[in-house]
Amino acid sequence: MKVDGKPYRTVWMEGNTIRMINQPLIPHRFEIIDLPTHKDTAQAIKTMIVRGAGAIGAAAGYGMAQVVLEAPDGPGFMDYVLQGAETLRQTRPTAQDLFYAIERVLQAAQEAPSVAAARQAAVETAQKLADENAAAGEAIGHHGAALIPDGGRVLTHCNAGWLAFVDWGSALAPVYMAARQGKKVFVFVDETRPRCQGARLTAWELQGEGIEHAIIADNAAGYFMRRGEIDLVIVGADRIAANGDVANKIGTYEKAVCAAENGIPFYVAAPLSTIDHDCPNGDAIPIEEREEDEVLYAFGLDDSGNLSRVRLAHRDAHARNPAFDITPARYITGFITPKGVHPPHQLPLP
Ligand code: MRU
Repeated sequence: MKVDGKPYRTVWMEGNTIRMINQPLIPHRFEIIDLPTHKDTAQAIKTMIVRGAGAIGAAAGYGMAQVVLEAPDGPGFMDYVLQGAETLRQTRPTAQDLFYAIERVLQAAQEAPSVAAARQAAVETAQKLADENAAAGEAIGHHGAALIPDGGRVLTHCNAGWLAFVDWGSALAPVYMAARQGKKVFVFVDETRPRCQGARLTAWELQGEGIEHAIIADNAAGYFMRRGEIDLVIVGADRIAANGDVANKIGTYEKAVCAAENGIPFYVAAPLSTIDHDCPNGDAIPIEEREEDEVLYAFGLDDSGNLSRVRLAHRDAHARNPAFDITPARYITGFITPKGVHPPHQLPLP
């Protein structure tokens, strides 16, 4: 996608350095951050400089390539690689794409006949993963656009747009594709407390693509559904269990229940790399709980134009901050994947 007319990917690699869009600064500043080592990359994933399952996966794939490039020649090579893989695995526990990408690059390195071949295979596999990720978003866009009528009003939660992938996105790809086909689309954007990925990132992306939208408070979706102002819901996924249960950004579950109550189709858009066929159901998906300050404070631009943090709650308040929830498969109308639109009990195999 383009920013000020210039095409960008969310994350990419130049030599040994990973470069990525610094997402916590959006929409107020657009900056690229350089990460010279895999430890810097792991920290960027953990602190959500890069976030969104697909982008996390691509960053982890490149991070693994950094690990393999950094590893010393000789007997310590594989120990370093395995240790680096573990460092990257420890960053975000819910996003299946993270684990998928680490395993793909690790396997390519392990199967290579020499250290030099392992370094080359790791870099090539990481690049292939990023390209697959972008292509998957585009294919999701084609399949999902058919579900959006001209004049359609779509609700989305969090950010599953191009910033959450290498390009295109998952939930927003059908919106972008429908708009390019000449359809008029309106998007209701859940603000998505506590980190406000909807208000900060999704609205910025939609603005860039010239798509009409309104940010709504997280607790307003039911109001608009009941009034008949939402035609369909499309969300992304951080992990999909084998039975079709979905882990996605906290608040997704209640949107799905509300959509079912109001007879509104509820779609989950995701690449095949997000499906965890070894995970039987949603209860087995690890749910990340993040620090309480994300709930207790808000971050943004103040009236003087400075980025700053303000405390919302009283001085001694504590908070709980689960980052994801589980939406049971029975609330999901269909999965939009690069292979087409599937009912929950017919998830495509890799
Ligand atoms: O915590 P984040 O920002 O990494 O969460 C990921 C998300 O943006 C959403 O859950 C999204 O719908 C899935 S990512 C494609």
